[in-house]
Amino acid sequence: MKKILAFNGSPRSQGNTSYLLQHFLDGTGHHPETLEVIHPHELNLEYCHGCLRCNVLRRCSISGDDWEQISGRILEADVLVFASPIYFHHLPGPLKILLDRFRSFNHVQITESGLKHTPWHEWKKDFVLLLCMGSPDDSDADPVIDLFRFVTSILGSGNRLHVIKATRLAVAKQVIKDRDELRILYEKLKLPADLAEKDHQKNKSVLAECKRLGNQLSGTHNQEV
Ligand SMILES: Cc1cc2nc3c(=O)[nH]c(=O)nc-3n(C[C@H](O)[C@H](O)[C@H](O)COP(=O)(O)O)c2cc1C
Repeated sequence: MKKILAFNGSPRSQGNTSYLLQHFLDGTGHHPETLEVIHPHELNLEYCHGCLRCNVLRRCSISGDDWEQISGRILEADVLVFASPIYFHHLPGPLKILLDRFRSFNHVQITESGLKHTPWHEWKKDFVLLLCMGSPDDSDADPVIDLFRFVTSILGSGNRLHVIKATRLAVAKQVIKDRDELRILYEKLKLPADLAEKDHQKNKSVLAECKRLGNQLSGTHNQEV
């Protein structure tokens, strides 16, 4: 069974992000011995100081916060899930602080043609991005996807990136609203009624996609999914 470590970057406990993640975890079968969910905003995590001493130390130079423990769990995991809302076309702060600390997993050298990244460890992981946004246009998530393409590539060519995007989500729990609830909400938001119908189908298929991916990556292959 694969070890799954998931980060939920939404500060809203009933946010849309948590439902995408929940469906992904449902797909994995929730095996507690191989599954952990972490909320970055609840961690005691310093931001990267930019000292670059990780190039020599082979670890982050900052001590006394949660990174030592978290970095160990990141290295042990087979699947890393980053579930997050899009904030100003990017990640919410706590998740970005966490991701900046990934710098310490690499040796970085400046060469004539560019930066050369050499990871300290062998990385062959599945990275999963579950992204929620208010915009109907999923290009608001592009900077985050670019960032993860970069991070996964510098950590090793064996990494794989999977992306699921959910759009036009403003209020908490919107992604799980049934047809009638969504119609009432869209009336308040002055959005056309037929859009509520279309979006209801779209939300359902995004959640099903999350569940399928969870099942596919868990290594358990539950036939019901
Ligand atoms: C500070 C902030 C910035 C946001 N920026 C964007 C944005 O750039 N593009 C977008 O589509 N939605 C943006 N949103 C909307 C959220 O991404 C969206 O409502 C999402 O579904 C929230 O996820 P949650 O319900 O899990 O909290 C922003 C929301 C906040 C609070």
